[in-house]
Amino acid sequence: MTGQAMRLSAVEGDIARLSVEAIVNAANASLLGGGGVDGAIHRAAGPQLLEECRTLGGCATGDAKLTAGYGLQARYVIHTVGPVWQGGTAGEDALLASCYRRCLELAAAHAVTSIAFPAISTGAYGFPLARATDIAVATVSAVIATQPAITRVQFVCFSREVLALYRQVLARTDHD
Ligand code: APR
Repeated sequence: MTGQAMRLSAVEGDIARLSVEAIVNAANASLLGGGGVDGAIHRAAGPQLLEECRTLGGCATGDAKLTAGYGLQARYVIHTVGPVWQGGTAGEDALLASCYRRCLELAAAHAVTSIAFPAISTGAYGFPLARATDIAVATVSAVIATQPAITRVQFVCFSREVLALYRQVLARTDHD
């Protein structure tokens, strides 16, 4: 870890309440809302978020699309569609890594300097948590090494257990 304040960290809480410039939504391909993170973000953002999402024509698994944040503190919501876990032989790892990479690409393209991720695909989509956490931390660490303008990335954990796991993986990963 370099001398500068840690760029990559894990926190516990509700991603819809974070005051970062962009929050990532664990959406589905329709982008028309759902439960979990998706439900929390739409509830906090208000109906204008869904109105904008309706104009996007959905989103492919592994891809991401950006909207305004409306009623959220965050300026942007970056909606990404994680893979549904199918046992690990349907390219799920690569698709999950792609979600993190595409979100950071969109963040950089919009001069976002702080972004928060939920544990994409580890809820309704059933991706094993430890495997997903390794992919999340490794991918984000590698990408932000090439994106110096992104100065703060937070992994938002919805339970103490998930927080502990992220902190374990962060501690053994070489990152800024
Ligand atoms: N803040 C942060 N994390 C949250 C929140 C929240 N408010 N709510 C849930 N989580 C956590 C879950 O505990 C899980 O660890 O986010 C992680 C992702 O869970 P889901 O929200 O179920 O997302 P995912 O597994 O990617 O499934 C996506 O669920 O909500 C629908 O429309 C969504 O169809 C899509 C599917």
